Amino acid sequence: MISSALISLVLASGVFALATPRSTCADGTTVKNAACCRFIPIRDALINDVFEGVCGENAHSTVRIAFHDAIGFSRAGGKGGGADGSMIAFDDIELNFPANAGIDEIVEDLEPFALANGISFGDVIHFGSSVALSLCPGAPVVQTFVGRANATAPAPDGTVPDPFNPVTQILARMADAGFSSDEVIALLASHSIAAQDEIEPEIQRAPFDSTPGIFDSQVFLEVQLRGTSFPGNGSHEGQVESPMPGEFRLQSDHEFARDSRTACTWQTFALNQALMAQKFAQAMAKLSLLGQNPNQLTDCTEIIPQAAPAPLKVAFIPAGQTHNDIEQACATQLFPSTLSTQAGTTTSVARVPAQ
Ligand code: HEM
Ligand SMILES: *[C@@H]1O[C@H](CO)[C@@H](O)[C@H](O)[C@H]1NC(C)=O
Ligand SMILES: *[C@@H]1O[C@H](CO)[C@@H](O)[C@H](O)[C@H]1NC(C)=O
Repeated sequence: MISSALISLVLASGVFALATPRSTCADGTTVKNAACCRFIPIRDALINDVFEGVCGENAHSTVRIAFHDAIGFSRAGGKGGGADGSMIAFDDIELNFPANAGIDEIVEDLEPFALANGISFGDVIHFGSSVALSLCPGAPVVQTFVGRANATAPAPDGTVPDPFNPVTQILARMADAGFSSDEVIALLASHSIAAQDEIEPEIQRAPFDSTPGIFDSQVFLEVQLRGTSFPGNGSHEGQVESPMPGEFRLQSDHEFARDSRTACTWQTFALNQALMAQKFAQAMAKLSLLGQNPNQLTDCTEIIPQAAPAPLKVAFIPAGQTHNDIEQACATQLFPSTLSTQAGTTTSVARVPAQ
């Protein structure tokens, strides 16, 4: 009796209000921070108008621009303001840098979108990247902040790694921005939802793995397959190419999979999709805050949708390949022979449709 009377008293006096008060947005969603309400229709417009509801070219390109924008940063200073939208605010400068080739297309979508919706260029890129990932089955929810101010200065040339740079050079550049080699490999899970236009212009939108619409471990597995020499005698003569027709392999990914500093982490992600997604989410959140003070931003992670699960929990060996085609590179752990092999004969990897 005493205890229930006490509970009524506590409830009536409001002392028991331990739950944080929530705000109700126009669409009925309740949020912890009312400032996130404004981003709900913006999220939906990104999904419908920019990404067209799919984990396709525009979603992929938004994740890529998030990297290129943010990595304009150095812990020592002098290499840009990080995740600040300078890639759009100073597009007349930054889009001329060779490593940013092809980024102009997504800037043409995101710049008018940010202006029409009254959000900063940094927010359209980094909030947009998290929303883009939510369309890719298997992708994690990345902790997502909004409220970045527009950039005040461009990043200088040379902050974005080039796929023909040696591993040592790429790791040094990433360490300068604050990332360990394990975090670099975690970020490269993004190449699971990726294609190229600029390195080999003859094969536009050639994907980096056989499932570019799914955020899965396939890229780590398929890059570990023994390569063939690039056909022809052009500028990429001698470069190692994917053995799978239609698939494009970046030279840097090929080397990360085989370098003693990164091969074991690479293999771990090939074998553990859940760990890959978790480590990616952590590194991606860190990337989106380079140069920013999170205390001055608003955490709107709660309005980022959870992506559908990946159709398969474990990577598979693609049709036409076998366990023997895995080029073992990690010195301390054998690649297990437990992965299943896709049925059928070799098929060409389809290009990512243009949007
Ligand atoms: C660390 C070294 C990296 C190198 C050398 C590299 C290089 C490249 C290159 C050359 C392309 C093809 C661009 C084109 O021709 O259209 C590409 C695509 C892509 N990259 Fe990376 N990248 C790196 C890291 C990252 C990171 C950290 C992320 C994101 C976290 C990322 C996300 C992407 C995505 C999503 C695409 C596909 C874009 C599309 O399909 O439109 N990359 N990358
Ligand atoms: C960002 O800069 C553009 C001009 O470059 C301006 O039109 C826009 O209002 C600015 N946005 C914010 C949120 O400050
Ligand atoms: C490259 O191949 C073309 C034909 O595909 C040939 O005409 C040309 O001589 C070759 N160049 C070299 C340097 O081998």
